[in-house]
Amino acid sequence: MNNIILSASILSADFARLGEELRAASATDLDWVHIDVMDGQFVPNISMGPFIVETCNRITDLPLDVHLMIQQPERHIQSFAKAGADWISVHYEGNPNIHRTLQEIRALGCHPGIVINPGTPAAVLESVLDMVDLVLVMSVNPGFSGQKFMPEMARKIAQVDSMLKQINSSAIIQVDGGITSETICAAYDAGARSFVAATAIFKHPQGIAAGIASLRNAVR
Ligand code: DX5
Ligand code: ZN
Repeated sequence: MNNIILSASILSADFARLGEELRAASATDLDWVHIDVMDGQFVPNISMGPFIVETCNRITDLPLDVHLMIQQPERHIQSFAKAGADWISVHYEGNPNIHRTLQEIRALGCHPGIVINPGTPAAVLESVLDMVDLVLVMSVNPGFSGQKFMPEMARKIAQVDSMLKQINSSAIIQVDGGITSETICAAYDAGARSFVAATAIFKHPQGIAAGIASLRNAVR
């Protein structure tokens, strides 16, 4: 067993068979379930809300890793916590109340995570880095699954890694977007330890278990 945390994004699951697909994923050595929340404002796409988190919570015992791509996330974190989120990650971009929001996520009993888009430099994280349990470095522009990994994000992951080491933080670096058995190593070598994948897991030609195994085997 290696030291990576694989988080399966249900954005690419077949929603007509969500229970079945999530149970199949949970029967493997998968670590977390990633839930992509999109509001059609912060990102062009609209996806799912607390109701789906609550549904996943009934289907699986795995930790639920909720990625909020929404405006004013502070208005909704309580509903996501109540629905069963274990990790709640919010974007730095466009969130003037980010410091308070991260405090509130922790006060609600969840692990707070901060997310930065490809166009946002690592330096903005400095004032909130000691408040978070996870830093999510986006390796695609958020909004859709099935996009291509941006290799230049490896440098940003390495920067975040050294910023975390400087403050003796054990926060996890997560990477999200275009993670496949070909791209996962570049992110791992840069310092990421949690990997989100939608297409590589739920659309793997040999099935969900094969998708999870091929990601894990790629970094063994
Ligand atoms: C993108 C989402 C990702 C997405 C990943 O906005 O945050 O979690 O589902 O999809 P893949 O793994 O297909 O790039
Ligand atoms: Zn995501």
